[in-house]
Amino acid sequence: MERIKDAISKARETQGRSPDLGVRKAVRPVNKAHEADQEDISYSQTQVIELNTKHLEANRIITFDSEDPDAVAFDVLRTQVLSKMEENGWKTLGITSPSPECGKTVVSLNLALSIAKQTDKTALVADFDLRRPRISRYLGIHPEKSLFDVFNNDAEVQDVLINPSFPRLVVLPNNTPVKNSAETLMSKKAKALVQELRNRYQNRIVIFDLPPLMAGDDTIAFLPQVDCVLLVVASGETKPVEVKEARRQIQSNNLLGVVLNKANERQTHYYY
Ligand SMILES: Nc1ncnc2c1ncn2[C@@H]1O[C@H](COP(=O)(O)OP(=O)(O)O)[C@@H](O)[C@H]1O
Ligand SMILES: [Mg+2]
Repeated sequence: MERIKDAISKARETQGRSPDLGVRKAVRPVNKAHEADQEDISYSQTQVIELNTKHLEANRIITFDSEDPDAVAFDVLRTQVLSKMEENGWKTLGITSPSPECGKTVVSLNLALSIAKQTDKTALVADFDLRRPRISRYLGIHPEKSLFDVFNNDAEVQDVLINPSFPRLVVLPNNTPVKNSAETLMSKKAKALVQELRNRYQNRIVIFDLPPLMAGDDTIAFLPQVDCVLLVVASGETKPVEVKEARRQIQSNNLLGVVLNKANERQTHYYY
């Protein structure tokens, strides 16, 4: 962990800016998850699916429970991310990592849920890690159609969006790995979809759970389509040189921060 911290500080020094945000302090948030929603929720076409909280916890999706100490770290992350996004008028956030398995999907879902707990924001999380989609699995949902079908012109996006029984949270799942992931991510259809998701609601934050940078050049090519980026690195797994290279690659894409995930095996801690 120290080595990753050193690498992050070094990279920060060389770039002359400090995009890494710190999540250490516990701030107990007010649980607003079940307050009535004001304006944004008119999911007339969105399927509502009840989630199993035990399944979510087993998959490290914990921010629905504001009493969970790990949820607090995400609420702090949410506050910092939203503050930077609002400051800049940004609405779309890409989440990537140097290599697979760093925790992008876990961070994307927890962050989206944490944002949705705020009454003035809707969060939409989209499974754009086309080679290795995991959002449906982690949520325990089995929708008949998904993003795969949208890309194949077999469904419209509004038919595959899901409201997983938490107010103000919308999910765009993908059930089937896409073989030509790079071409699909760079397609006109994907571009139009990003714009549609971005523009449909005023108070919506859209999180794109993206492929890792090492998987190919499709992630880096996709990044200009999102307003800003979070980089997730795994303590004890991601090498400092990988962090440095990832930061070099995404520096022109408004890197919001680096989430140091898996910092403690027993708990889910997030450092910056
Ligand atoms: N903070 C954490 N501590 C321990 N394991 C974690 C943590 N975050 C994620 N994981 C586990 O690591 C694996 C990869 O996580 P995932 O979010 O699917 O990564 P990615 O989307 O980057 O490939 C999963 O088994 C997940 O449960
Ligand atoms: Mg993933």
